Amino acid sequence: MARLVVISNRIPLGDNPSGGLVVALDDALRSSGGLWVGFSGETMDAPADELTFHEGAAFQRASFDLTPQDHDEYYLGYSNSVLWPVCHGRADLMRILPEYLEGYRRVNKRIARLLVPHLKPDDRIWVQDYQLFPLAEELRRLRVTVPIGHFLHIPFPGPTDCATLPNPDELFEWLSHYDLAGFQAQRDLDNFAASARSLSDFAQLSDDRFRIAGRDMRAGVFPIGIDAAAFIAEARGAREEDKMRSLTGAQIMIGVDRLDYSKGIPQRFRAFQALLDGDPALTEKVMLLQIAPPTRESVDAYQQIREETEHLAGRINGQFATVNWTPIRFIHRPIPRNELAGLFRQARIGLVTPLADGMNLVAKEYVAAQDPADPGVLILSRFAGAAEQMSDALIVNPHDPSEMAQAMQQAIDMPLEERQARHAALLRCVVEQDVGWWSATYLEALAQARD
Ligand code: ADP
Ligand code: G6P
Repeated sequence: MARLVVISNRIPLGDNPSGGLVVALDDALRSSGGLWVGFSGETMDAPADELTFHEGAAFQRASFDLTPQDHDEYYLGYSNSVLWPVCHGRADLMRILPEYLEGYRRVNKRIARLLVPHLKPDDRIWVQDYQLFPLAEELRRLRVTVPIGHFLHIPFPGPTDCATLPNPDELFEWLSHYDLAGFQAQRDLDNFAASARSLSDFAQLSDDRFRIAGRDMRAGVFPIGIDAAAFIAEARGAREEDKMRSLTGAQIMIGVDRLDYSKGIPQRFRAFQALLDGDPALTEKVMLLQIAPPTRESVDAYQQIREETEHLAGRINGQFATVNWTPIRFIHRPIPRNELAGLFRQARIGLVTPLADGMNLVAKEYVAAQDPADPGVLILSRFAGAAEQMSDALIVNPHDPSEMAQAMQQAIDMPLEERQARHAALLRCVVEQDVGWWSATYLEALAQARD
């Protein structure tokens, strides 16, 4: 069996790493004696010019360090101040600096150089996400001929957003060196084809075959899943003492997102405000628990979203709270996975309302965590990739506070039989199309792309 080599910006180090992608790739990496390469998370002025190998997993793991300048330009800069906002429809938040693009190219070139001595002739390489678009081109320059696939975890921009990039043509040039480009949702594949059409040297040969800059490649939709069995077990085993207590017995609505402007947290708060405004009888009867760990804090746009979110939570609490009840509880920290699973199970409503999102795994985790006998209701944004699979959720437009408030009311009032029926359909999808299904389907398509 061909060895699987995975490259991602983040690599799970430490003993017994867990988490979605690790589980997704564990089987394939383990059974093929695979290798996973990624950024160590450490910056230093003079990083080693070779990979550092790590013990403690059933497959090989190797990492590289970055200089502070690389980190600023490649990670905070081009990856998260150019590509991330553009792919999430927020070109207004983009910051274009020539050194960002140079740093991004430079780091990808360096990763290719560090990787090549460790490659074998029958490897297959799987590159993860937007931080590493140029990697296939750099590897091909170094005469790597094995199959190379890419998977994009975030949305692919349509033509208007693509045109705001400083280098739209180069994005397609980068992608054209892959044998297979994988996307989360049909919407992304459609955007890819529509955006590429503006290039001079582009042809769509069939549904999944494209010719770009004289190179043939394939592209397809592979919606990522979660490790459903593990999450179900985690939620079932949640400890009584970790449960949230409420003085007034309020029903819990839960939101769990990195504090990112793409997640629609202020819009969610305003919808909750509209709900409380519209029905005074809900006072002390319902509350919103928002868990939002910090992320990319040295980028301006992330500081702004933090200020906006905290300000809004304070204002809504000031307006509606009683001595026994705070309508919004806002936690700006990560919390342990088993506690999270228990809180999902306890929450009567799951709020997953991003303005744009590749897939959104929280939607799937919330469903997996429910008690099928008395399940909660998922409210899901039409702009999450998950909405293409999870049509039995209450699908909402996150920009419309009154529509969202109505969905919240509908979820509060929903009879048990309807909750059970919707949950059963959602759970089927989460269990059948789990993370193992995702990686197996993708890797099979990568093998075929070469044939
Ligand atoms: P993104 O990849 O954009 O952050 P996803 O919803 O796809 O969004 O994945 C987020 C992952 O991070 C989920 O597995 C979720 O459970 C986890 N997560 C989010 N917030 C927290 C938190 N406060 N504590 C622990 N895990 C979290
Ligand atoms: C999204 C991206 C990942 C990224 C993660 C966390 O899920 O698709 O590539 O790793 O967010 O962001 P961070 O910048 O902390 O790695």
